[in-house]
Amino acid sequence: MEWRTDCSIIPAISPAIAIDMNGKSNDPRVAWLQDPHAECSPPSNPGGICWRLVLFGPPGAGKGTQAHLLSRRLHACHLSTGELFRSAASYNPCSLTPAMTTALEHMRHGALVPDSTVWAMVRERSGCLHCRGGFLLDGFPRTLAQAEALQVFLEKEQIALSAVVDYELPLDEIILRLGGRRTCEQCNSVFHVIQQPPRTEGLCDHCGGPLIQREDDRPEAIAVRLKVYQQRTAPLVQYYRQLGLLLPVAAAGSPDMICERTVTALEQHRPFAA
Ligand code: AP5
Ligand code: MG
Repeated sequence: MEWRTDCSIIPAISPAIAIDMNGKSNDPRVAWLQDPHAECSPPSNPGGICWRLVLFGPPGAGKGTQAHLLSRRLHACHLSTGELFRSAASYNPCSLTPAMTTALEHMRHGALVPDSTVWAMVRERSGCLHCRGGFLLDGFPRTLAQAEALQVFLEKEQIALSAVVDYELPLDEIILRLGGRRTCEQCNSVFHVIQQPPRTEGLCDHCGGPLIQREDDRPEAIAVRLKVYQQRTAPLVQYYRQLGLLLPVAAAGSPDMICERTVTALEQHRPFAA
């Protein structure tokens, strides 16, 4: 297999993705969502430390928001499996493979996508794990099988994880964040019906596009996501604690405060960084 040393970075609250005539993104920082072989050139890391992190925590804890802030701060690539599936959901349904059609159906209901599909998509983009800027895995791994597959792969490739940042947030705050989220259909900007309402109800402040509720942010899907998290994902806390990688971080407060808290915790954890 041919490895790349650079890869793409996606913003969690992404601006509109420009699409070329072939239906591909022309922004190298997001192109990997569509093309596993897309390349980019991340800025060189002035701190010299290459952070290879898993951002962990329940749905709504703020993994995507923090990945966006941390990727700027640490110059590491942001790889989100959820964004990968949401991006696929915007394709023409006729162009989806049967495995992807099934995956999107699972996602709509808040269930996990089968491990085989998730691993195939990550494996296709595994050149990103060699990125010289490091990486931030957001939403992956989510099951013990995924964590073990990742660990075997990293050991084989002699890549060491720096830490697994575990964002902790009380359940009532999680439900408030997810239930009130509205996303612009056109430019992906994120609002909240109470905490960050748009100037005009239902319309994006930035591009005027319609604000929609993510299908998996409907109450019944949130309930499934939280149950699945407890049953299948939370056990990874123990897995990574045993590997000496777990770094708990309180996820309450403003996004900037949490980012600062994360960087401080990482600096104290620095001996583990490659
Ligand atoms: P994914 O996209 O990973 O979703 P998730 O983790 O379930 O949930 P979120 O993305 O909503 O939470 P988050 O922690 O990223 O928080 P965010 O920053 O967005 O996965 C979606 C689906 O894809 C899964 O359910 C599954 O079906 C499938 N999937 C993906 N990966 C998979 C895998 N590895 N295996 C199997 N299936 C997989 O913030 C949430 C909200 O809170 C936002 O509105 C945000 O603006 C707001 N917010 C963030 N921080 C703050 C703050 N400090 N204060 C106030 N509001 C805040
Ligand atoms: Mg997310």
